[in-house]
Amino acid sequence: MVDGGRRLEGKVRISGAKNASLPILAASLMATQPVILRNIPQISDVEIMLAMLTALGMSCSWLDDHTLKLVPPKQLNTKAPEKLLREMRASILVVGPVLAKEGKVIVTQPGGCNIGPRPIDYHIKGMEALGANIREDSGMIIFEAEQLKGAEIMLDYPSVGATENIMCAAAVGSGKTVIHNAAKEPEIIELQNFLNLLGARVKGAGTDRITIVGVDSLGGTDYSVIPDRIEAGTYLVAGAITSGDVTVEPVIIDHLEAILAKLLEMGFAITKEANSVRIQATGRGKAIALRSMPYPGFPTDMLPEMIPLLCLADGISMVYETVFASRLKHVDDLVRMGARIKTEGRLAMITGVPALHGTTVRATDLRAGAALILAGLAANGQTIVENAEHIDRGYEDIVGKLQSVGAEIVARDL
Ligand code: EPZ
Repeated sequence: MVDGGRRLEGKVRISGAKNASLPILAASLMATQPVILRNIPQISDVEIMLAMLTALGMSCSWLDDHTLKLVPPKQLNTKAPEKLLREMRASILVVGPVLAKEGKVIVTQPGGCNIGPRPIDYHIKGMEALGANIREDSGMIIFEAEQLKGAEIMLDYPSVGATENIMCAAAVGSGKTVIHNAAKEPEIIELQNFLNLLGARVKGAGTDRITIVGVDSLGGTDYSVIPDRIEAGTYLVAGAITSGDVTVEPVIIDHLEAILAKLLEMGFAITKEANSVRIQATGRGKAIALRSMPYPGFPTDMLPEMIPLLCLADGISMVYETVFASRLKHVDDLVRMGARIKTEGRLAMITGVPALHGTTVRATDLRAGAALILAGLAANGQTIVENAEHIDRGYEDIVGKLQSVGAEIVARDL
């Protein structure tokens, strides 16, 4: 429940990156010694992944609010629980690690937030290329491989998850694997760093060509996760949409360049420090054209959050989503709040209006839900965002963090 119209001022502490934590948690399945992970965010997607690791035989314990200790079993279970797979699409990331370590893994088609059909064909093609044989049996997909062997793999699309699964599967086994057209996201670099600390031999992450030389086994390590660039971007938009003055810290500036460029293009003042960014907004932004692209382009995860900001900008903006089929599920609710938006498939045309008004809206997925909170921060009156549990999947304590910079927001079980 958000009472809009408050100008946000102050510093928001950014948590560890969800999209670095999840693949690194999955990769921990290949360790043979204990793993310590630091700066892990308190979000429900991490809880689901921990439940998955536990089901596969890892013993997971929190040493403090953001530090995990994972102790691997002698042997992993190879069947991933269907319920957890359905709950979170990212659970498909256990395939490469379990297959590499045990020579077998059984999963069902994954679920996750409903931002369009999210198949796993690139993952399957990658495992096949590495020598796994794959069969379906009453809705389950069974991957088996006596010994994975290196291969040249060309990805049709720079898929983040497929790149991560192949990096893991190729890390333990024989021979050299080259991934062409690999995803270049910062979280891929984090996974490479983590795997190499475990004893793997991975290089090239951050470019479109990643080379992995298989090793016999991996050990353990102690690793701290980078700050979440999407969470940081979300709070920068919160500052902009309330004509506020907000600093986000810690951040890695490099990871925010595409987001900062668009906020600057809208006319907001951005100040970069060593590991923080400050946004100062004195009024409405200017309309822009926005298109999501794989990294280093504008991140699809930030596109939904930009839309409420553009609803209040001066002029007509064009927004085009190229990564997922439906990142615009919150548009109808924004229109009910007084926005003027026309959509055609993945394209939205937004005509800026002087104000939005609060009403009851509903989160459909993590980022659309966050976007509705952002709209509520600027709207006149009260906005109630239902199904807010979607937002807790990827934002640690969003209510507390927004309250800390002056927002009138509370969470209630209705
Ligand atoms: C990761 O999802 C992120 N999730 C997503 O963040 C992010 O939006 C996405 O990368 C793009 O950056 C995690 O890292 C846990 P993809 P992923 O494979 O790996 C299609 C968030 O809000 N595709 O790069 O699932 C797919 O349907 C989440 O934090 C296939 O067709 O993304 C999509 O259209 C959402 N076949 C496109 O590729 C496949 O086998 C990009 O997907 C795999 C993907």
